[in-house]
Amino acid sequence: MDYRKFITRQVAEIKKTVGKGKAISALSGGVDSAVATVLAHKALGKNLTVVFLDDGLMRQDEPTEVRSAFAKLGIKVKVINCQKNFFAALKGLADPEDKRKAFRDTFYKTLGKAVKQSKAMFLVQGTIAADVIETKKGVKSQHNVLEQIGIDSKKGYGFSAIEPLKKLFKPDVRIVGKLLGLPAKFHQRMPFPGPGLATRVVGEVTPERVKIVRKACKIVEEETAKYKMFQAFGVLLADRATGLTSGGRRAFGNIIAVRAVDSKNAMTATPTKLTWATLTKIQQRIVKEIPGVTKVLYDLTPKPPSTIEYI
Ligand code: XMP
Repeated sequence: MDYRKFITRQVAEIKKTVGKGKAISALSGGVDSAVATVLAHKALGKNLTVVFLDDGLMRQDEPTEVRSAFAKLGIKVKVINCQKNFFAALKGLADPEDKRKAFRDTFYKTLGKAVKQSKAMFLVQGTIAADVIETKKGVKSQHNVLEQIGIDSKKGYGFSAIEPLKKLFKPDVRIVGKLLGLPAKFHQRMPFPGPGLATRVVGEVTPERVKIVRKACKIVEEETAKYKMFQAFGVLLADRATGLTSGGRRAFGNIIAVRAVDSKNAMTATPTKLTWATLTKIQQRIVKEIPGVTKVLYDLTPKPPSTIEYI
């Protein structure tokens, strides 16, 4: 594939589609939305509004880091705090697909308001080939696959979608991002799902439970930074396990599963062979730094039969 030609073609196409109108792009901090945004900015300049929906489900320090990285590229990012809306929508839900649907509906409703304010007619999305394939196969409802929510028709969100990366897989997206001048921190970054940490909390998603998993993800990312792997993160399970506090008292605490996988394009994956020393360090830090965790597990399951995330 000629990536430079791909960029030229997409920029021309976005320009043609949007014409003299306006478009909006929603950044999530992940690779795909970052690349789609830079591509659209190259095509549209000031006619592209870039928003970041701070849904409370992001990795640690994400809103600040995204804003400053994009400012360096000359792209202004408007951060919209909508944490309350997302936690209200997710309240009481434990079923994975119910959670995904609640996230998706809240995402597009919130975005719909931002679109109206910006007067945009087009929404730029970082949907990639794997998202579409998995959703169509019925594996899981990826939040950004628009065919299934009838974005142009039934629900009348009032905008059409532009999805320049829809035919690409993750490795291609990274190359395009690099050619577009995105810093390595972004184009080499581990994938992060649109529904954010909600995919890493099994059972109900509450601010308290997200806080726990956010810390676990941060520890796993830090301790695996030296590995070249596709994705690594922590997951808060719905179950609990008996343990002992430092004072020797019985505690019935949380269980964190650690997931690290090698993969080319997310369609299949194998568990990464982390060293015993790395696994031990992760376990020690999790129980020490996250109060109430009484068990840490390492997930050995490949995809298939498992998927990469837990919901
Ligand atoms: P699974 O769990 O399906 O994940 O094996 C495959 C890849 O996709 C990411 N993922 C998502 N990305 N929206 C996204 O943008 C989603 O709803 C979503 N669900 C999973 C996951 O992190 C992995 O890289």
